[in-house]
This record gives sequence, structure tokens and C-alpha cells, in this order.
Amino acid sequence: MLSNLEQQPADALLALIKLHNADTRLDKIDLGVGVYRTGQGETPVFGAIKAAEKKLVETQDSKAYLGPEGDMGFVEALVPYIFGDSAPSLDGRIDGMQTPGGTGSLRLALAMAKRSGATRIVIGKPSWPNHPQICRDLGLDIVEFNHAAPDGTADMEGIRQAIANGQEGDVLMLHGCCHNPTGIDYARSEWDEISALLADSPMLPLIDLAYQGLGNGMEEDAYGLRRVLGSVPQALICYSCDKNFGLYRDRVGALYVMMEQAGQLAPVMSNAHALARANWSQPPDHGAAAVRLILEDKALTAQWLDELDQMRERMRQVRQTLAAAGRAGSVDLTPIGGQSGLFSIIPLTKEQVLEMREKHGVYMAGSGRINVAGLTMGNIDGFVGAIADVSG
Ligand code: LMR
Repeated sequence: MLSNLEQQPADALLALIKLHNADTRLDKIDLGVGVYRTGQGETPVFGAIKAAEKKLVETQDSKAYLGPEGDMGFVEALVPYIFGDSAPSLDGRIDGMQTPGGTGSLRLALAMAKRSGATRIVIGKPSWPNHPQICRDLGLDIVEFNHAAPDGTADMEGIRQAIANGQEGDVLMLHGCCHNPTGIDYARSEWDEISALLADSPMLPLIDLAYQGLGNGMEEDAYGLRRVLGSVPQALICYSCDKNFGLYRDRVGALYVMMEQAGQLAPVMSNAHALARANWSQPPDHGAAAVRLILEDKALTAQWLDELDQMRERMRQVRQTLAAAGRAGSVDLTPIGGQSGLFSIIPLTKEQVLEMREKHGVYMAGSGRINVAGLTMGNIDGFVGAIADVSG
């Protein structure tokens, strides 16, 4: 029976990790998968996480099951950071549960949307490749709109049209901040407009917030999400701690649901719990428990926020340096300065991306996406030179 299965290509993004590791060139540059790197090219464990893990080892007295919702202390501790003092949160209209990473949250949110009658997922193009992949796996139709304008800012006409064409049964997938793969976020006035349009739309917003704090700050990066939640009756929120707590392989995420009235949450959450049980039963505990311990402790919280500030500041510097380089061959690097988060797109063809890799040892996604944190003051000139070489 199993021989009926056809060979599948390796995930293009994850395959880059192995390709880069196998390259013996000393000046190779890894701009592939989205992990933060320091100016020395390292991805260390946060000091606050190390301290919380130590505390966890010393104080944890059981590893007995917690249930499909995972560590609810973790889920609740994140609420003020994500939702602030916005009305839906204060009114008890939001409930959540722990998930294995942001991907687990997306899987659950989309499966639940499907269960409740969703047929189409409306999604900006380009998006994180795993978004359409999960939708396809669930048998959901994908409707695309253009996310990025040629000048490196958001294509507002694209989303206006998408919302105008919205139908019952549509889910609108939005990136809360640090858009993956373009780094192009909506400006505040654009979020205001999107929220107003959604107020009159039958679409259900699903907001993927996987990079809070890596753009402009924890509060600033939640602006769009809070605006949208303020104008719609229901929404799904998929959250990841994998980047802002550096917990990547520990898979730490959460799913939140907002309903019009607090009393409507129980049946929805019971479906989310049942789906979690059928998929992974219960989420892994360790990373979420470490996050909870940080957020329960003022000093550790301050340490974590400080580490996050340093990450953001370094990425800002890399962006500014790239933007200051101006042109590299036929590529205009200046829009990168106004974009945010880990990613930006260098407009290169697939062949040019391959040439970057083979000739210059620069590993970037086939879409031309780069992880800006892979650049350092030591390799940035070489990177700009390589772009000029392949595109000039
Ligand atoms: C990325 O886009 O590089 C990250 O979100 C990691 C992943 O799982 O793809």
C-alpha cells in the first residue's frame, strides 16, 4: 500500500539548512531559514530563557499530562502583551490554548475554520509557503491577492479588492507584523482602513502574529491586530514564541479565539481541544513553561525585553546599512530600510538566486527572500557585491 506514495520534494526552505551546512567555503552566508543571528553569526539561547530553564529544573515536581490546552498559565501570561487593555480581552471575549509552535496554531485554526464551514482562505501573495501548504492539506481553496507593491510598500488596492470580494465562508489571513517573506507591514493608517473595511465584511480574520517584538516593539507590533479585533465580531489569532523568545526547536505557540460574547467561547474552544487531541494530543511543555516563568518574574521579564530590544536594534542597523548601499546592480536596496522584521525580498530571478549560492556561497530562499539577521558588518559588503555581480 505504501508504495502508492509518490516522492515529495524536500521543503525548499528547510533544505537550505542542510545545503548550507554541507558548503565548506569559509565566507558562505546563510540568509535562509528565519532564525535570529547575532553580529557574530550565532543563535544563542536567551539569557532569560536559560535562567527560567534553570528554575524549571529546580522547581518542576511533575511531568504528568496537563491536557490538550497545555499550560494555561503560559497562555494567560501572554494575553496582556498580545491584546493589551483592548476591550475584547477585558470583556472576557478571548480564550486560548497552547499549541506546538505557530504552525500548530495555524493548523488548528484552519482546521477549526473548516469545521465551521470555511471554504476559502484569502491570502496575500507572496506569503510564508507553509500557509498555502497547510490550507491545501486541509482541502481549503486558496484565493490570492497581491500584497507587495513594486516600490517595496504594501499594495493597498490589492487588499481593498480582496475584502470587497469577500464572501461568507472566507477566512482572511493577515500577518500581524514583520511580514514573511516581504518585511512589508501595513502602516498604522492602513491598518485603520483595513479594520474599517473588515467591519462591513463577512470574512473571518485569521491573524498570524509570529514575530511580535522583532519589528518596532512589543506594543507597536500589536497595533494592527488590536485594531482589527476592535472592529470585527470574531477572529482567530495564531501566536508564536519561537522567534521572540528564541525557542525555535522547542515549538512554543498559542491559539486565541475572539468571539462577540464571552458566552460563545466554550463550544469553539471545545472544538479546538478536540482537534488538538486528534492531532498531537497535548503540546510539548518545556518551552512554554520557561516562557511562563519569565513572564511571572519582573526581573526575568525585563531581561527578556532587553534581549529582544538588542535583537531588534541589530536588525535595524543591518537594514539601514543595506538601504544606505542604494543600488546593487539592477537591485534597489533602499526599500529594505523601511521594512521590518527578519525578512525582505531581493528581487532576483530563480537563476540569479542559484548563482548567488553557487558562485558566491550566499544561501537565500528561492523567492529571493533573505533573513536580514544573517548579515553582519563583516559580510554585508560581500553580499551587496554578490547581488551587483549576478544582477548587474
Ligand atoms: C521561516 O519562514 O524561515 C520560519 O518561519 C521558519 C519556518 O518554519 O519556515
